Parts: sequence; structure tokens; C-alpha cells
Amino acid sequence: MKINILTLFPAMFAGFKSESIIKRAINSGSLEINIIDIRDYTTDKHNTADDTPFGGGAGMVLKAEPIFRALENTSGKVIYTSPQGVTLHQNLSNELSSEEEITIIAGHYEGIDERVIEEKVDLEISIGDFVLTGGELPAMVIADSIARLLPGVIKKDSYEQDSFYNGLLDHPHYTRPAEFDGLKVPEILLSGHHKNIELWRKKESLKRTYLRRPDLLEGREFTKEEKKLLKEIVDEL
Ligand SMILES: C[S@@+](CC[C@H](N)C(=O)[O-])C[C@H]1O[C@@H](n2cnc3c(N)ncnc32)[C@H](O)[C@@H]1O
Repeated sequence: MKINILTLFPAMFAGFKSESIIKRAINSGSLEINIIDIRDYTTDKHNTADDTPFGGGAGMVLKAEPIFRALENTSGKVIYTSPQGVTLHQNLSNELSSEEEITIIAGHYEGIDERVIEEKVDLEISIGDFVLTGGELPAMVIADSIARLLPGVIKKDSYEQDSFYNGLLDHPHYTRPAEFDGLKVPEILLSGHHKNIELWRKKESLKRTYLRRPDLLEGREFTKEEKKLLKEIVDEL
């Protein structure tokens, strides 16, 4: 999959592309991250990519023409990072991960000229109800949430048990040592009994969801096993 990111601050993406799982995804050929510097598509001698807002007021606005020109070299869905967009959700990341190419526009200052949104943007995505200085971090958040779902990047088993994928929060995790400073890991995880471990994990996952995010359980079609576990959880509380 190819993810184009339009930005005025390309250097912000250096670490994103060169570390950990994203680096591995790029090296394996599953992912291409193409950082496009909006300034490269300006035509005046000062490379002006932003200007003051019509009507007056504070801040600067990213100009439309360089973004229109930059988009000519891309294909696929165009996403604008915006606090006014739909809030990013696992289902949306799953959907986007099946695209061949997408382009994410990172706004800055007061945002981008509205004509870009009207004419070129397919979807505005917010990463939450707060305002950041720019869309670079949201672009990384969106790209990261997609990249980990691409074939061969991380194991399917791994992301399928993560929070939200199956509508529940993940169960707790522990690693060695089995005990330190008197703090022990749950006995069941040392038992080697895979079926019981699976059941314990399922119950913990349901319990966490019930206690922390009961909204996720609304409208869920529970399996027989989940119903039984949920009853146990409620009785034990
Ligand atoms: C200071 S913000 C502009 C906010 C805009 N004037 C508003 O109030 O809707 C600058 C840029 O940061 C990005 N941004 C800020 N908060 C965001 C959020 N919660 N989700 C996605 N992008 C965000 C957008 O690309 C935006 O154009």
C-alpha cells in the first residue's frame, strides 16, 4: 500500500519512517510512505505556501494552488486531517488498509483553504476532540493504525486480539520474571493449559470492557460462552 502525506514539515516524518514496525513494513515492501513537501509545488520565488485569511483575523491559511498541484501526482482517496472530521476508529483503519493508495493532507496554522476540501477531499479525519498545531501527528497516527494491518507487518493473531478489533478491549499481558518484589503473574498463565488460558483471557477481556468501556458492549451479539463469562463477572463484582 502507498500512503502519500502532504505536509509543510517533511522533516517531522524522518523518525516515523525509520524506526520499529513502520520501518520493517517499508523494508518488506508492504508499505510505501511518500512524503510530499507542499512547498515543492509553489511557483513564486519565495515558495509561499500559506497566506493571511480573507476577511482578516489571526493566523495563516495553507494556500489552495500548491495543494491542488501536489495532488496531481497522487491517486486514490484523499483524506484531510481535521478536528472537524469523523473520529478515527478501528473499523475505519481496517477499511482504509484495503486501499492500494491514499493521500493524507496535514493542515497547519488555521488550516487549509476550504476550496481544497470542497474539490479534492474525500474524507476528513479527526484523532479526537482537541486541537493540535498541525496535521503531521494525526497523519502519522492514521498511517500507523493502517500500516500494522497490512499483510506481513505484524501477525494477524496479534492485531486481532488487540483492543477494538473484535469489539472488546484486550486482556492484560505479563512477561518474565514470574515474580519480582512479591508481585506474581496470575497462576493460570504459568499452567501451560492453553484452553484454560484462552478462557481466562476472554474473561479478562470482557471484564475490562464491561468495567472501562461498557458502551462497546451495547448491541453486541454475545456468544453462549461470552454470556456465561459475563454472568460470572457480574456475580463476582
Ligand atoms: C490549529 S489546527 C486548525 C484548527 C481549525 N482552525 C479548527 O478549529 O477546526 C491546524 C491543523 O492541525 C490539524 N489538526 C489539529 N487538531 C486535529 C485533530 N484533532 N485531528 C486531526 N487533525 C488535527 C489539522 O490538519 C488542522 O488544519
